[in-house]
Amino acid sequence: MSTEQIVKKQLDSNMWRMSVAPMMDWTDRHCRYLHRLLSQHTLLYTEMVTTGALIHGDVPRHLRFDPSEHPVALQLGGSEPADLAQSARLGAQWGYDEINLNCGCPSERVQRGSFGACLMNEASLVADCVKAMVDVVDVPVTVKHRIGIDKIESYDFVRDFVGTVADAGCEVFIVHARNAWLKGLSPKENREIPPLRYEMVSQLKKDFPQLTIAVNGGIKSDDTVLEQLQQVDGVMVGREAYHNPWWLASWDALFYGDDSKERTRESVEEQMVLYMEREAREHGTHWYSIARHMLGLRNGLPGARRWRQTWSDHRLKTLPPHEVMKLARTKPADLPEVAIS
Ligand SMILES: Cc1cc2nc3c(=O)[nH]c(=O)nc-3n(C[C@H](O)[C@H](O)[C@H](O)COP(=O)(O)O)c2cc1C
Repeated sequence: MSTEQIVKKQLDSNMWRMSVAPMMDWTDRHCRYLHRLLSQHTLLYTEMVTTGALIHGDVPRHLRFDPSEHPVALQLGGSEPADLAQSARLGAQWGYDEINLNCGCPSERVQRGSFGACLMNEASLVADCVKAMVDVVDVPVTVKHRIGIDKIESYDFVRDFVGTVADAGCEVFIVHARNAWLKGLSPKENREIPPLRYEMVSQLKKDFPQLTIAVNGGIKSDDTVLEQLQQVDGVMVGREAYHNPWWLASWDALFYGDDSKERTRESVEEQMVLYMEREAREHGTHWYSIARHMLGLRNGLPGARRWRQTWSDHRLKTLPPHEVMKLARTKPADLPEVAIS
């Protein structure tokens, strides 16, 4: 093996080096298909799926994904070890590469179900949940959590949480580097108001060098990613990846040393149109629910706004997607009135 291949192998063996965060209503399979076109190596997470939805609901609807999405992780929401074990087993059977437990979501709905961020108060229950899942699947079982909840600012709290859960067999922790305030803030405010404290996450890596620790929260630039990769094993990006998906197109080269794939925004758009046509044929999906995830693809370029407006123009819903692409690429002066009347 050449040195280059060895470096690449080492990088690939850390599946968590770069990942796109689980985001409800955003990181559905269509969004992940787009992200995979932009980066071959980045780990992709599903939206959170509750154990109730899997045990009592439409399993294919929640778990279906395209083979190109690998590596792809299923995020579960729940707090009953037996239900989580059953759901994790389903996830592994469907081919997910990782099962992740959500211990970071502060929404009231999730709190009513006694899971998400409030689980950080119950480290031994989380340990039981992890153990129940580890016992039934061969893929890694990981936990995504915060650095604290409410006004608990002490590092010991998150250190003890990680220690307890690690003892149950979890080897990978993805840490959103801010507290979750369970009362008084909306989920959106909970992603913005509690201050970011990256140093808590790097301290976890120092105290648990044998664990894989990835940091999440407010990361928006190559420089910050590179800075964080000096401290911890991985970086998870949420909103910036969603709003500016083209950023992902540089990640394989920058963070995995792989510049083998040439991409242009136009080629990605064309591949998405092919995907829209296939999805319509195979699953009756309307292109509109796929296109919504790529609206930021041309951000920063001249004409981006009009391109975005065309792809989100509900009046064009009756056109096939290749026609919409043609319109989106046409200069305003050349647009036929009739096309959008
Ligand atoms: C629309 C939206 C939905 C989210 N849904 C989830 C979720 O289902 N599970 C989860 O663990 N975190 C969820 N999050 C939180 C993100 O995974 C991430 O932790 C947070 O956005 C901070 O990272 P960022 O600053 O890079 O966006 C969501 C965030 C957003 C913006």
